[in-house]
Amino acid sequence: MSVSEQNIQIELIKEKAIANAQDLINNNHITDLESKTNGLSLHEESSYLFDPAIFSMIKTSEFKFQYDKFELMKSSHSQENLVDLGDDLVLRPLKRDDFGRSYMNLLSHLTEIGDVNQQDYEKRFDQMKQADNTYFICVVEDVKNQKVVASLTLVYEQKFIRHTGSRGRFEDMVVDVDYRGKKLSKLLLDVLIQVSQILGCYKISLECKDPLRKHYEQFGFCLEQGQNYLCRRFI
Ligand SMILES: CC(C)(COP(=O)(O)OP(=O)(O)OC[C@H]1O[C@@H](n2cnc3c(N)ncnc32)[C@H](O)[C@@H]1OP(=O)(O)O)[C@@H](O)C(=O)NCCC(=O)NCCS
Repeated sequence: MSVSEQNIQIELIKEKAIANAQDLINNNHITDLESKTNGLSLHEESSYLFDPAIFSMIKTSEFKFQYDKFELMKSSHSQENLVDLGDDLVLRPLKRDDFGRSYMNLLSHLTEIGDVNQQDYEKRFDQMKQADNTYFICVVEDVKNQKVVASLTLVYEQKFIRHTGSRGRFEDMVVDVDYRGKKLSKLLLDVLIQVSQILGCYKISLECKDPLRKHYEQFGFCLEQGQNYLCRRFI
């Protein structure tokens, strides 16, 4: 195992420990965790939905497409691994304060979002984060305009089958109308396909409308013979 892979493992274990601690608080097993952890604030420990260190394991040589600029930026004050895409665009995990960076407005370019205020957003963010390495929402931020302009979700699903294997589902791909045609959707696919491989998924799947099939087929997704996608809607 390489040093960067070891670091990832350590970070994942750390995340799990924090999530477990949060779970203990939520279930009232511990009422005053802060005094036991020297003032560590669980919400401030990391505002990212998942550990960006996983990006350091991505191999651009395995991308399906080429992107003009794809550089890992290491922040001086922490172990953050963000990706500089040039043109003031940065690829990173979703953050707890992205409501203020128009994240819900971005999702409205995909579908109906309903009435979601900042409190609702933060509550759902915390629930996703506590689900411990289940939600990998990767976004692109225009840092100049402080706006999240693209997003793709990888849901990591653990199973009993396939030797207690895991599979991934891609959900909610969206790019802000003003940023389309810049290969941001392709980049998010290239990145999260590798993340799902790093996590050990035996397969990933997604649902899309007919016109976008070609787009996803370029990344190896295909309609499997004999398989059907069935859906029952309640609203
Ligand atoms: C689909 C979407 C994510 C593409 O984002 P993007 O960053 O502009 O895409 P990219 O620049 O990476 O790639 C563009 C490719 O997708 C194709 N494409 C984009 N939108 C398309 C559409 N509505 N129908 C068919 N093809 C489309 C382009 O023709 C282009 O094809 P190419 O490989 O021949 O160049 C964006 O248009 C979007 O957010 N749409 C609304 C939400 C949506 O439909 N999401 C997908 C849910 S499955």
